Amino acid sequence: MVNIPRGTQDILPGYVEKWQYIEEKARDICKRFNYKEIRTPIFEHTELFLRSVGETTDIVTKEMYTFEDRGERSLTLRPEGTAAVVRSYVENKMYGNPTQPTKLYYCGPMFRYERPQAGRFRQFVQFGVEALGSNDPAIDAEVIALAMEIYKSLGLKKLKLVINSLGDVSSRKAHRDALIAHFSPRINEFCSDCKSRLEKNPMRILDCKKDRDHELMQSAPSILEYLNEDSSVYFDKVKSYLTDLQIDFEVDSGLVRGLDYYNHTAFEIMSDAEGFGAITTLCGGGRYNGLVEGLGGPETPGIGFALSIERLLAALQAEGIELPVEERVDCYVAAIGDAASSKSVLLVNELRKAGLVAEKDYLNKKVKGQFKAADRLQAKFVAILGDEELERNVINVKNMETGNQEEVQIEQFISYILEKSH
Ligand code: HAM
Repeated sequence: MVNIPRGTQDILPGYVEKWQYIEEKARDICKRFNYKEIRTPIFEHTELFLRSVGETTDIVTKEMYTFEDRGERSLTLRPEGTAAVVRSYVENKMYGNPTQPTKLYYCGPMFRYERPQAGRFRQFVQFGVEALGSNDPAIDAEVIALAMEIYKSLGLKKLKLVINSLGDVSSRKAHRDALIAHFSPRINEFCSDCKSRLEKNPMRILDCKKDRDHELMQSAPSILEYLNEDSSVYFDKVKSYLTDLQIDFEVDSGLVRGLDYYNHTAFEIMSDAEGFGAITTLCGGGRYNGLVEGLGGPETPGIGFALSIERLLAALQAEGIELPVEERVDCYVAAIGDAASSKSVLLVNELRKAGLVAEKDYLNKKVKGQFKAADRLQAKFVAILGDEELERNVINVKNMETGNQEEVQIEQFISYILEKSH
């Protein structure tokens, strides 16, 4: 037997309905916020991620599924969605569309070679949104509100929104210099990754998993002290919109995010449900002004987030929330005898055409077995057709909830079920 690869999962019937329910809810919310779906390829040129996610990030240095195709091109299974959306935005010149900002959402599998554990997979599904072309802090608040709405609409309550500002280019530069001054004298006490990050991208040191507990981490200069006037005004406006929208948040100056393209607003939504595993981040996002330009487009601001359905399901479980997914069969047609059995093929077809969920027996079961099957499917009605009834042009319909049984003319059968099952 060949097993499933580590860090991946099969989503089987009985469980997949929860996925469908969540995806539908999220799509519906995007529709109300006027975000349109975009679908991009599962793999992209490797260079796309080097130029966007960043060459010093863990994602790029350790976690990408990169391979050479038969034409010797370096391709990578997408580790996230933003880079591809921005690539597509530039390639399809969406900045020229008459309706702006361009508001997009996506849902699909992402791939990261990480150490699998609860809430962390090598293939996981992200639902994400990207709003391109607006520098209004109101859209930062909109994007955050949309993410919160997805969780709230599913009944989650134990959520914590954490926000930070990573500032603009000049604030970042000042912070960068301060970080170098802070870490350089003792950089020898840090891991080899951090040593190489010091000059290339010192903010990444703050995100290091190995050196997390080093005393210099706690005392590191905070980006918020280095925000220039514009960046701080922008951040204040985002916070005030969130307050207006009655969305609670905490500011954490240590929130740096694991991808390089961010500036200004950065945020994460965590679960603080008891019993939720060690990894509590459900959703992450932020602003990435400069990314469109970096990928060959015109100067365009952008902001978005992504959440994984796997972690959302874990949060639902931690809060003990059952989604109202119903997979019942409306009517099971049980047949006794050859002629009745043939007729049942037509009857289930008619029921289905009328929009009902209908099933019949395909295993040549006796009537008792057919009733058992109907029970397992939680059929609301079982219609019993024997050759004798068929001759009289009638069918017996049993309401499985009340136990009542009625004889119905076959011509009236479909409308009878339609009427009674609503
Ligand atoms: P990220 O923080 O790398 O950001 O991932 C976003 C979310 O994807 C995480 O909060 C988590 O829910 C989920 N996730 C990440 N890795 C895994 C994993 N191995 N297993 C299960 N779930 C995982 C991004 O990907 C950015 N593209 C988000 C964004 C969009 N920023 C702006 N626009």
